[in-house]
Amino acid sequence: MAAAHQPIPIALLPGDGIGPEIIVESRKVLEAVGTRFDHDFSFSEHLIGGCAIESTGNPLPPETVAAAKASDVVLLGAVGGPQWSDPQAKIRPEQGLLGIREELGLFANIRPVRVHRQLAAASPLKPEIIEGVDILFFRELTGGIYFGGSTTSTDGRTVTDHMRYSVEEIERIVRLAAQAAQQRSGKLTSVDKANVLAVSRLWRSTTDRVMAHEFPDVEYETILVDAMAMHLLSRPSEFDVVVTGNLFGDILTDEASMLPGSMGLLPSASVGLTKPGVFEPIHGSAPDIAGKGKANPLAAILTAAMGLRYSLDMESEATAIESAVDAVLDEGLRTPDIAAGTDAIDTASMGSAVVDAVRRYAH
Ligand code: IPM
Ligand code: MG
Repeated sequence: MAAAHQPIPIALLPGDGIGPEIIVESRKVLEAVGTRFDHDFSFSEHLIGGCAIESTGNPLPPETVAAAKASDVVLLGAVGGPQWSDPQAKIRPEQGLLGIREELGLFANIRPVRVHRQLAAASPLKPEIIEGVDILFFRELTGGIYFGGSTTSTDGRTVTDHMRYSVEEIERIVRLAAQAAQQRSGKLTSVDKANVLAVSRLWRSTTDRVMAHEFPDVEYETILVDAMAMHLLSRPSEFDVVVTGNLFGDILTDEASMLPGSMGLLPSASVGLTKPGVFEPIHGSAPDIAGKGKANPLAAILTAAMGLRYSLDMESEATAIESAVDAVLDEGLRTPDIAAGTDAIDTASMGSAVVDAVRRYAH
């Protein structure tokens, strides 16, 4: 950890849509944490995604990569929007996101899904099903079908995306997930499609070996991805740490994000073997509500907490933010996505409420 008063560089990549308005709120909260805990955070802002295409023609300008690499923490808002959504386009905002994951070697995407007791009513599932849900997903992020490349037949009528994993890629994400399981309830679920895919059979045999040899103390099970999609709705509270590949993790975490009722609450951390990690909310750029003050900044604020915890080892500071978010929810403050028909406040008021709660926080 950096000594107090030595500036800690944090790169902000607000991106598109609601990205800028939620990142402003997480910055406000980080500033309050800095004051409260005597840290000097220094912020810089950089382009990524659609806005970067607009001003530089490149969804991931080299300046952004350099600034990210020179920081301790990278906070990302969201990328994308209807103006760049032509699937035929050669240059797309999502390339900025995939590019920074690859550039920084962020092979592990950690997505906690926890039901906030105050918001149980916001979930589309029955309260008895979501009670006690607390899942930590480890999604492999720089391999699999996302990064296997694609080939097109000479007549252009057949396209193939390659799903590819090496033993090393599987081992490193499984080890991280298993270590997390050791610190939690000691249970790990690995999700694959080993009854059909050869890549999944390598995933399965590698995971079996790592768990048997290195983590005999962790309770370990494997579940096929289609069954997992079902179990997440029927018995979500029975899972603790879940590890899976890139594509399955993308899909299952979107599904799981509905358990707590709103995507507007869920943070994520993408980490590699070295600093910095990239921290971003699970939700997208929500262009339909951008600029209207309707976005829920809590996911971005909780994302900042994950940045402090995973990149800077600031456990007390992260807990202060998480407790502050709990406090504002206890007070009944709600943005429209979680208001369920009651009075809602705007994005900036929610951010300010968390700032006040951080200032009041006593540890
Ligand atoms: C996510 C997103 C991205 C992904 C998209 C925007 C490229 O859905 O972070 O889950 O598929 O990884
Ligand atoms: Mg996704």
